[in-house]
Amino acid sequence: MNSKFYITSPIYYVNDIPHIGHAYTTIIVDTLARFHRLKDKSVFCLTGTDEHGQKIEQSAQKKGQNPKDYVDTIAERFKSLWDAFGINYDYFIRTTDSTHQQSAQYVFLKMYKKGDIYKGEYEGNYCISCESFFAKSQLAGEKSCPDCSKETILLKEESYFFKLSAYTDKLLKFYDENPNFILPKSRRNEVINFVKSGLEDLSITRTSFNWGIKLPKELLENHPSNQKHVMYVWLDALVNYLSALGFHNDLENKMDFWPANYHIVGKDILRFHAIYWIAFLMSLDLPLPKHIAAHGWWTKDGAKMSKSVGNVVNPKEVVDAYGLDAFRYFVLREVPFGQDGDFSQNALIERINADLGNDLGNLLNRLLGMGAKYFNNTLKADLSELKTTYCEELAQIQALLNSLESYMNEVQTHRYLEELWKLFSLGNATIAKKEPWQLIKANKHAEVAQLLLLITNILLKAALFLSPCMPKSANKILKVFGLSANAENFKRFITQGEILDSIILEPTPALFPRIEEKLLQDIKIECTKLEPLEITNPISKEDFTKIDLRIGTIINAEVLPKSEKLLKLQVDLGEARPRQILAGIKAHYTPQDLLGKQVCVLANLKPAKLIGEISEGMLLATSDNEGLSFITPQNKRKNGSKIS
Ligand code: ME8
Ligand code: MG
Repeated sequence: MNSKFYITSPIYYVNDIPHIGHAYTTIIVDTLARFHRLKDKSVFCLTGTDEHGQKIEQSAQKKGQNPKDYVDTIAERFKSLWDAFGINYDYFIRTTDSTHQQSAQYVFLKMYKKGDIYKGEYEGNYCISCESFFAKSQLAGEKSCPDCSKETILLKEESYFFKLSAYTDKLLKFYDENPNFILPKSRRNEVINFVKSGLEDLSITRTSFNWGIKLPKELLENHPSNQKHVMYVWLDALVNYLSALGFHNDLENKMDFWPANYHIVGKDILRFHAIYWIAFLMSLDLPLPKHIAAHGWWTKDGAKMSKSVGNVVNPKEVVDAYGLDAFRYFVLREVPFGQDGDFSQNALIERINADLGNDLGNLLNRLLGMGAKYFNNTLKADLSELKTTYCEELAQIQALLNSLESYMNEVQTHRYLEELWKLFSLGNATIAKKEPWQLIKANKHAEVAQLLLLITNILLKAALFLSPCMPKSANKILKVFGLSANAENFKRFITQGEILDSIILEPTPALFPRIEEKLLQDIKIECTKLEPLEITNPISKEDFTKIDLRIGTIINAEVLPKSEKLLKLQVDLGEARPRQILAGIKAHYTPQDLLGKQVCVLANLKPAKLIGEISEGMLLATSDNEGLSFITPQNKRKNGSKIS
């Protein structure tokens, strides 16, 4: 029997519309699934939507809809986008599916019976107007709501807890024994450190809202008060990876796919997968997934894309403008897996023109052009002569092909494609070296046929490896050779290394026509339309660039006896000497509070004299009824770093 391969995307919240971040994750998942289908594995590829929780309840309320109608509409948008994109998923799970809800209750009951769930009290700062709890670290100031700035109250809510803390050692042992569990490996330490810093038990039920899965009926029967609990949305959501296989009621034996080979996620939700999910699975005594692979964020003009910021790039519009495969190629190739990347049309066009047009498209065009002109599309050579003439090239090609799988296994799609592209360079360089147009003049037809068959073999082998990333284009290339991307051909031309010594070429129009500069103006990628907001005193970007804001460290602070308000600071901005800045913060800070602190400084403010002392800049600060607070960078930064 074929070996099994199970891969998942996150299930997306239905309070957002799909954007290129979501499309990116889903395309990576689809690419890996296709790669493993080529390798003749039996593949189960899962995506879906996460439809419970307070946020979604609120989004529905805002639209004046009942939650179920609301989630039905948005789930459909995700599904139809993936269908339009040709995502080859095997199942689309929705957490409002009744089978999923039953699985979640079954999981809850199992962990409860195991003794890993207990009833307690969840204590936190609660914002009544926002109906949410916030951790101390999330609060604005001492106790203000980070969303609406109103004062929160300390509130206790009955809650069930999962004994996450009891799994600390087991988790650490698991990471230790499975160094490739978290991909890219550079993210591993972040997870390990989080676990080492101490895990708190996890609150896994809520009583403050209704839109969620109820507790299992066994826990309701004698305890009517349990009716008010719904499951915490992350427990509900993570279970999808099991419920999609029919976990509690596995009629189709789909649990054979468990454990998952890959959970592909964005770095924002790595912790939930690499820590909570693994602990839940340990509690359920189930085998653990092989890899959690976390990619970085797509930003737009440097900011994380999000609906509330309004900088969301709609993937459908990009695909309509540039083509699906070009978009897939771009996202898989442009950014090293795990790192953030900025989405720009220019970079996309550059990739299309250079990589797809010049390198790949050109090689195919040269083959088709010469094949038609010199051989009427019918190429033939003596196999052993072909192998002798191109002994070195063929060895090089094989070695390169052999190296590709490991990149895919580590989800290094950018490296995979980068390596694959070396084949096209090799092909183009060999043509340039052999100068077939001269050989034809010298009547050396056999040599040219040999060369074109080398190019044929390069293109068809490369197209097989390209097919998981760019399915349509790869199949168009393979069709030139009367082939298609499937496991049988992969076995024949890659695993067994067959080399073609004759072919009838079937011409195809240019795959990646050049995108001319002028088109750039015609195509606009529209951002999602937002309600207009009133902006007071709007300024232009140019206005802003006049302002020179920099990070500096306060290296000295003294009280000025003559002044009630001012402190005299020396701030290191990485210049020849520290700046002297007089700041009106004496009522809020003592000199000791300030020493060593990093601050934001307006560095090109005209120097001024105050009470006989010179001041060479201004400290940025904010104040509200809780008092004054200077602005400081989130992480320590080099003195003099520019703020933009
Ligand atoms: O977190 N760049 O759902 P979600 C790249 N329901 N990827 C991005 C992105 C961006 N700017 N924005 C979103 C949830 N993503 C939970 C998951 S799983 C059991 C539950 C992608 O709708 C990325 O994969 O907020 C991220 O992890 C996912 O969308 C989060 O989607
Ligand atoms: Mg999110």
